Amino acid sequence: MKSLLNDLERLLPGRIIGPDARNYKRYARDMVSAPRLHREPAAVVMIESAEDAAALLRYADEKRIPVTPRGGGSGLSGGAIPAPGGIVVSTERMNRILDIDSDNQAAVLEPGVKTRELDEHLAPLGFFFAGYPMSEEICTIGGNAATNAGGGRAVRYGVTGDHVLGLHVVTPGGEVLHLGGKHLKDTAGLNLLPLFVGSEGTLGLITQVTLRLTPRPASRRALLASFHRRQAAAAAVLALRRLGRNVPSAIEYMDGRTVSSTLNESNTLGADAAAFLLIEADGSDEAEVNALMNRYREITQVNEGSIVRFSMSREENEELWRLRKAVPWWVKRSRFHSNEDVVVPPASVPELIERVYKISTPLDFAVYGHAGDGNFHVNPMMPADSPGDSSAREWEEALGEFLEQLYAVALDLGGTISGEHGIGRKRTAYSLRAVGPDVYAAARAVKAAFDPKGIMNPGVIFG
Ligand code: LAC
Ligand code: ZN
Repeated sequence: MKSLLNDLERLLPGRIIGPDARNYKRYARDMVSAPRLHREPAAVVMIESAEDAAALLRYADEKRIPVTPRGGGSGLSGGAIPAPGGIVVSTERMNRILDIDSDNQAAVLEPGVKTRELDEHLAPLGFFFAGYPMSEEICTIGGNAATNAGGGRAVRYGVTGDHVLGLHVVTPGGEVLHLGGKHLKDTAGLNLLPLFVGSEGTLGLITQVTLRLTPRPASRRALLASFHRRQAAAAAVLALRRLGRNVPSAIEYMDGRTVSSTLNESNTLGADAAAFLLIEADGSDEAEVNALMNRYREITQVNEGSIVRFSMSREENEELWRLRKAVPWWVKRSRFHSNEDVVVPPASVPELIERVYKISTPLDFAVYGHAGDGNFHVNPMMPADSPGDSSAREWEEALGEFLEQLYAVALDLGGTISGEHGIGRKRTAYSLRAVGPDVYAAARAVKAAFDPKGIMNPGVIFG
């Protein structure tokens, strides 16, 4: 260990953090709750440039030391947790906005730029990065690209990968690959860019991201509707999706139990509803948004929904989102919980909802998520009545049985086990089943082509 730290300090002076440092423990985890996945790295390297990354990867490749890239640490599947004896490479010092190019509607960024901070720079220019995820306060642009993160507005705007125009990636051999750029079309050879988007640090280290910028909607409103039947809410989701270019900017589902538990007990909003939808309109002016909201209101009501809130201001709009964003935090209050994110083809949403509630389990579970994308957070939970080993064992067993059933439903409906959080370290046991043996073998061959010694984030995606 000492010799590793000494080597690294010689190679990259001033960039190395060792186990004695304050806050070191945070590099042992991301936002995954399961302590069995947490592990302290042997060293943390704060790279400041692509050259730093190249020097580090060349060294690690030669010595066969595992390397795990880390952005904001907001991941939900353990992708930023190191392998045993491994190095964590943090991009937090690479946090410069290099170029915001209004003419080309593109931004060039170092990977450690915080998503929210980018938004603060884009807002006065009338742009936004439309693929951003829900954790925008903490996540970084490099992490978003590395996980192909998606969020609450993907139904209209797509996910991070739909907005990545270019990447600089350092491979284990120390080469810096420049992929894509500000140009919008590219047929010059094999397109390696999307291969790195969502590769969870298993192929190389992202040191620069070029993002497509989207005109920022000037006006935005939302409504919250309640439904007595979950299937009525599901039918409303499909009807809203049929609106084509008038599709809502968000169609979020929350089941009644989840909402009433999330809210303070004095609030009876969720008491007698089976499900809620948060439906949002955005557009270039108020008249356009008002017209859209009227359409959404009609569709909701035709599908047995009652409007319980209709935002009249930006502040009221935020309030509705605050309710939605509070749900994962409520889930987190259970000592044992797992944040799942299965996805199915959109037309299968009614069937997914039907089948999810039939999962046979002693666990309580919340159901919410990005219904418009067919992407649901089905979060099993177990409170800690009897803290200790036996409840941890009970949880692991019940969770395993729960996931078997949940993933089987998603795959059976033609979907997959993760729509936005990735395989990470948490779900490697299921990744072969999710893609099948042929795709799995092809993916392994791709990995071996870039990373023959297997130093890039071993134990992530591939078991
Ligand atoms: C969300 C995160 C958990 O949708 O994906 O809130
Ligand atoms: Zn989500």
